Amino acid sequence: MHFTVIVFASALSVITFALDNGLMRTPPMGWLAWERFRCDIDCEHDPKNCISESLFIDMADRLAEDGWRELGYVYVNIDDCWSSKERDQQGRLQADPKRFPGGIHKLARYMHDRGLKLGIYGDMGTLTCGGYPGTPLDKIEIDAQTFAEWEVDMFKYDGCWSNATEQEQGYPLMSKALNATGRPIGYSCSWPAYQGGLPPKVNYSQLGEICNLWRNYGDIDDSWDSILNIIDWFFENQEVLIPAAGPGRWNDPDMVFVVMTCPTATLQP
Ligand SMILES: *[C@@H]1O[C@H](CO)[C@@H](O)[C@H](O)[C@H]1NC(C)=O
Ligand SMILES: *[C@@H]1O[C@H](CO)[C@@H](O)[C@H](O)[C@H]1NC(C)=O
Ligand SMILES: *[C@@H]1O[C@H](CO)[C@@H](O)[C@H](O)[C@H]1NC(C)=O
Repeated sequence: MHFTVIVFASALSVITFALDNGLMRTPPMGWLAWERFRCDIDCEHDPKNCISESLFIDMADRLAEDGWRELGYVYVNIDDCWSSKERDQQGRLQADPKRFPGGIHKLARYMHDRGLKLGIYGDMGTLTCGGYPGTPLDKIEIDAQTFAEWEVDMFKYDGCWSNATEQEQGYPLMSKALNATGRPIGYSCSWPAYQGGLPPKVNYSQLGEICNLWRNYGDIDDSWDSILNIIDWFFENQEVLIPAAGPGRWNDPDMVFVVMTCPTATLQP
């Protein structure tokens, strides 16, 4: 009897629902700026490495021209520090005008022209982790709308400067707001990483219904120790993490393998 109950329970956990936007039936693959380029905004002294339009154009060219796109690496993802410190007069987020002179919409079109996709970043708090304007509860709709107008394909919603109560409201609300734009936008939630990554604080059934992927654990940095630490945590908690994942709903160890195999290596002179 005990045995049947266990089998039944695990079968139940497999028949869970995924966020119904048709996206990310296989784990998303691509490139994200943070691991290597962080919040380098010093384009005057460090033009090749600063967070700017030309960095993402360079990466798009590498993915499109060096064979990565054919392997499935199609996402080119902006992380923190892309925006202006102020919203525009209509209260919308805007890209830093010096570093992104063409704006985000132009960058999205650059990706689409090459069969790639553009990801962008926001944060549940009043400020992003890097101190740029956040997307708290009252800004969720307008920001989702802005990203859709820019034809962005993926959105990472970070959690700095927000508390558990706001996260409980904000992450599902953003899922609804993205859906309401009518544009399929892959939705990456940093929520579990801010709540220790494990039940009972983290509800993976709910996450699978509202997000396409989620950051479970700490940030990866540019070191082998960091990778091992992340792998150890995923290994230790695999009973929780494996049933959480499936088509359209994925654990995200912070683009571990993606970043490490991606073009930063080929870009070195
Ligand atoms: C929005 O959600 C509905 C119902 O879950 C789904 O059928 C539709 O494809 C979604 N649209 C987008 C743009 O995600
Ligand atoms: C969470 O933050 C909001 C907004 O700052 C505040 O009103 C609320 O009291 C906070 N809740 C908790 C549990 O700290
Ligand atoms: C977790 O989320 C699911 C789906 O939204 C819900 O049915 C369930 O009650 C939640 N579990 C807990 C412990 O809150």
